[in-house]
Amino acid sequence: MTMIKLFDSVAAAYQQAPASFYDQQGPAHDQFGRRINYLRVSLTDRCNFRCVYCMPAEGVQFTSKSELLTNEELLRVIKSAAAVGFEKIRLTGGEPTLRRGLVELVREIARTPGIREISMTTNGLLLDDMAGPLAEAGLTRVNISIDTLNPEKFRRMTRGGNLERVWAGIEAAEAAGLTPLKLNCVIVRGYNEDDAADLARLTLKWPWQMRFIEVMPLVGVDGVAEGGVVPTAELIERIERECGPLEFVGWFGSDPARTYKLQDAKGTLGFISSVTDPFCSTCNRMRLTADGKLHLCLLRDDELDLRAALRGGANDSDLEALIRQAVHLKPWGHGLPEGVKPTVRGMSQLGG
Ligand code: 5AD
Ligand code: SF4
Repeated sequence: MTMIKLFDSVAAAYQQAPASFYDQQGPAHDQFGRRINYLRVSLTDRCNFRCVYCMPAEGVQFTSKSELLTNEELLRVIKSAAAVGFEKIRLTGGEPTLRRGLVELVREIARTPGIREISMTTNGLLLDDMAGPLAEAGLTRVNISIDTLNPEKFRRMTRGGNLERVWAGIEAAEAAGLTPLKLNCVIVRGYNEDDAADLARLTLKWPWQMRFIEVMPLVGVDGVAEGGVVPTAELIERIERECGPLEFVGWFGSDPARTYKLQDAKGTLGFISSVTDPFCSTCNRMRLTADGKLHLCLLRDDELDLRAALRGGANDSDLEALIRQAVHLKPWGHGLPEGVKPTVRGMSQLGG
């Protein structure tokens, strides 16, 4: 079967994976020997924010309900992924808390044999009420986006978001034990590079990981990224100028964040240098879009259509073979240095 290039032929998507993929046993590895065991599942492409680095101001066309995977379909994919060695699930969006029935979905995923960890990346707006029930259902951890501690700027960057409610969500997540909490900050030049030090100082008081992410040029937000990425090196310099020297703690396995610490801090700082220092060699992840495509690399367009397979009558072993095939075909890494940019999906459809 050839790789399915985005929606060009849904009918072609469901062809049997080559027999060799049916025969394979054990955890799936890609053709470069990387063990792929982490699936990021986008539950919806909708969002209650419109972050400048994620969605274009004019908005995006949302996926219609019939195109979304149902909960049943989602659970089938996750079960098959687990059967070929996926152990870690992250729920993303858009904004995953907007998915109806989320708590029950988490409960079902938690029951899937082989799944050891279920985390979620959220903007935190609805977390105040949901953190407790989600933790009880089996969610292990959350990452919450927070780009500044200044309410005005927060509104500007999220195009309308309410910092106070997000902060309540963060505290609720901490109280519910969705820990260790990670906070994500995308640095956008001209918006929030001067807020990094204040965010970094949160770790003096809280045992959190504050993570700074270089903005990536995804579809619809090229303008923002072209304001010029703030390289991690520049950001570290800024933080050190204001907060004192950082101690390097480590760079752990497939975690894209390089970890540092402020003196006497309870938490850590993570730097994710997707643009200036890609971490493709330790990549262990693939993505499932809300409309059922396995998306093989965040910054490339390659996808394999599982929804067509599901709706075309694939049984569990067909699904497992297709997922193995997708893993095998995962590209080595992104092509930003050569000017290759993703052209089809924006971040709100991919969930980071
Ligand atoms: N570049 C880098 N990170 C991004 N995110 C969203 N858009 C971008 C972008 N253009 C991150 C946010 C959010 C996660 C889902 O993805 O930090 O927390
Ligand atoms: Fe929504 Fe997250 Fe995208 Fe912001 S970054 S618009 S919160 S999906």
